[in-house]
Amino acid sequence: GEIEKGGYPHFMLKEIFEQPECLTNCMRGRVNVDTDNVVLSAVIDYKKQLLNANRFIIIACGTSWHAGLIGKQILESLCRIPVEVEYASEFRYRNPVITSKDVVIAISQSGETADTLAAIKLAKENGAFIYGICNAIGSSIPRSTDTGSYIHVGPEIGVASTKAFTGQVTVLSMLALALAKEKGTISNEAYLSIVKELHAIPQKMEEVLKLNDRIADLSRIFTYARNFLYLGRGYNYPVALEGALKLKEISYIHAEGYPAAEMKHGPIALIDSDMPVVVIATHNAMYEKVLNNIQEIKARKGKVIAIVTEGDNTISRIADEVIELPDTIECLEPLLSTIPLQLLAYHIAVCKGKNVDQPRNLAKSVTVE
Ligand code: G6P
Repeated sequence: GEIEKGGYPHFMLKEIFEQPECLTNCMRGRVNVDTDNVVLSAVIDYKKQLLNANRFIIIACGTSWHAGLIGKQILESLCRIPVEVEYASEFRYRNPVITSKDVVIAISQSGETADTLAAIKLAKENGAFIYGICNAIGSSIPRSTDTGSYIHVGPEIGVASTKAFTGQVTVLSMLALALAKEKGTISNEAYLSIVKELHAIPQKMEEVLKLNDRIADLSRIFTYARNFLYLGRGYNYPVALEGALKLKEISYIHAEGYPAAEMKHGPIALIDSDMPVVVIATHNAMYEKVLNNIQEIKARKGKVIAIVTEGDNTISRIADEVIELPDTIECLEPLLSTIPLQLLAYHIAVCKGKNVDQPRNLAKSVTVE
């Protein structure tokens, strides 16, 4: 009812706005800036199993799978362990190689997704160690894993997942930091700067949420669109996938996420003056290359909505719309860059009069195949 929405018109908007508080809860007792430490009880209790892993296999569906793609990048980068990311529905049916030296990380908001549960069962039968990242306390997935970490973001009601995604990315970041420290694969300096930055993320998210009115305004321009393209690179490539998924789910506009460099291998053929392209072009190692993609889109008259880092005055001159984010460390960028895409999908769907909290044909938790 209206009371549970806490004054917001929809659960989805409430949950988007809750994210700074949710991440504070997620990090409470885990990220400690006074002692410069990240503590996950699972990493303490199952240190041997986690440190001996030859490989991590992340299994998930939907938005949780997108969080897994970000987790792969941060785990490989900080811990130097190979990580595979699989759709649970594919993994369970394709006779995958699983050994007792594998650690499976199962990510699920609801903890009830049938395909993810079945994939866990298969991995267990083959001797893998199972680590869960879930939200719903005491749900089926946490009960079937060897250990895990809850994301602690509170109940998520909107069918389109928002705060669970940022909670999952936060737990994966803490896991990567804690393991990298144990393994000695991260310099003390890098470790400290990421810990400090992670701690600062909720505050920076508050800044990003102030863009809500601006995003609501620009959303009105794009309700005409029948297609959208989302581009990003590196850590922001999964964010592009997630932004496209949010738009599809609640506004019913067809949207595709792509790694920006792959645009030339297909999507560029779709670009004309009717095609809005959301480009995540923050100030990181890939900036010049993504800037080049924006120029290619503009040369074909596409409409560019650019997500940039504060103070960028190059892209603001060529993009149609610019959304500025506070600067942060590259591996944590998804925690900020996801928010404007959640808001964009939300406002476009509201402008189109769609039922954002309960989109047609979708379920919050998919407990059957
Ligand atoms: C459904 C939901 C999505 C969710 C996916 C995986 O499709 O609508 O929001 O990402 O299931 O759910 P899980 O609970 O396993 O994260």
